[in-house]
Amino acid sequence: MAGISYPYNPFQSYNMENTSTFAQTTGTTTDDFLPLLGTDYIEFYVGNAKQAAYYYQHAWGYKLVAYAGPETGVKDRASYVLMQDKIRLVLTTSLLPDSAISEHVKKHGDGVKVLALWVEDAAKALEETLKRGAKQAAPLASIQDAHGEVRTASIHTYGETIHTFVERKNYKGAFLPGFQPVNSSIEVKPVGLRYVDHCVGNVGWGEMNTWVKFYEDVLGFKVIISFDDQDISTEYSALMSKVVSNGNGFIKFPINEPAEGKKRSQVEEYLDFYHGAGVQHIAVATDNIIETVSELRRRGVDFLEVPGTYYDDLYERVGKIDEDMEDIRRLNILVDRDDEGYLLQLFTKPVEDRPTLFYEIIQRRGARAFGKGNFKALFEAIEREQERRGTL
Ligand code: FE2
Repeated sequence: MAGISYPYNPFQSYNMENTSTFAQTTGTTTDDFLPLLGTDYIEFYVGNAKQAAYYYQHAWGYKLVAYAGPETGVKDRASYVLMQDKIRLVLTTSLLPDSAISEHVKKHGDGVKVLALWVEDAAKALEETLKRGAKQAAPLASIQDAHGEVRTASIHTYGETIHTFVERKNYKGAFLPGFQPVNSSIEVKPVGLRYVDHCVGNVGWGEMNTWVKFYEDVLGFKVIISFDDQDISTEYSALMSKVVSNGNGFIKFPINEPAEGKKRSQVEEYLDFYHGAGVQHIAVATDNIIETVSELRRRGVDFLEVPGTYYDDLYERVGKIDEDMEDIRRLNILVDRDDEGYLLQLFTKPVEDRPTLFYEIIQRRGARAFGKGNFKALFEAIEREQERRGTL
């Protein structure tokens, strides 16, 4: 991938040890049976990839870099590959009425099918995970074109989501063999998105620990933080969450399950509309959340709103921050602090008509946590949206 320097470690400047909030992670050592170099791509199955690609280019500033479809000899689908710095999204739509892709879209609406993990050795990744109980979704495959070879293999995770291991050390093409590079005539202005910080999965009642154990046993991940329903509850609804991370911290997957409350949890609402477990949100990192969010708002991306009172005692809660408080308040950005620093974050409304997948914009200023201090304000904001939909 020209212009992209992997491996990339968003946490390279942080001390991974000696924190009170986090269990110590193992680091990349020879006993890591599944070394991961990063998120390779996130593939969505959607109803109309052409239009979705337009949205991600114009609203989010992604650049269209590759395409596969009838014009390139692929008969059953069309896929658009979009990039912004180290983030790579693939939007795929079916050209047939009864394919696995169209069935996925019929059941789930637009949603994430593949969380692809970049590996040195796809054969070993498949072998090691199958040995530990993974269910294979696609066998080891070698795909080749004039630019070289990519080896892939896939395993199932929660719901109908899969992880694809991608080994691309012998490949110099735009994305994967079979895809053609695109020189889009559209002028796209990036909004400053840098890398995928974490991807969150929603799973069914009582299933969180099953999936946490899956990531521990099968992929060698560790739980780095957990939240119970006391941490994540409002007057009306609750959820529980545990965050698993791989050894080097490049990949972090929080897993949520609904908890009992007076009203319907947002996780339950997701499960009802997605018809099962799936990816709830993707957190994308920026180095300047003020500029990123200003530009996204200008382009029409909708964000959740927290009430003005959230800002009244913000300095008392989080201490001094470098950003201008007026900007923070005007853009409705949330701030939280942990032992190591602070973070700024903001959540979009769902980006489909079903209240399913949304995005988080995050800027870390030292903090490695996930904004626990904002959960209540955030979930109350989601409840106001649920109320409007009649699903609370
Ligand atoms: Fe998040």
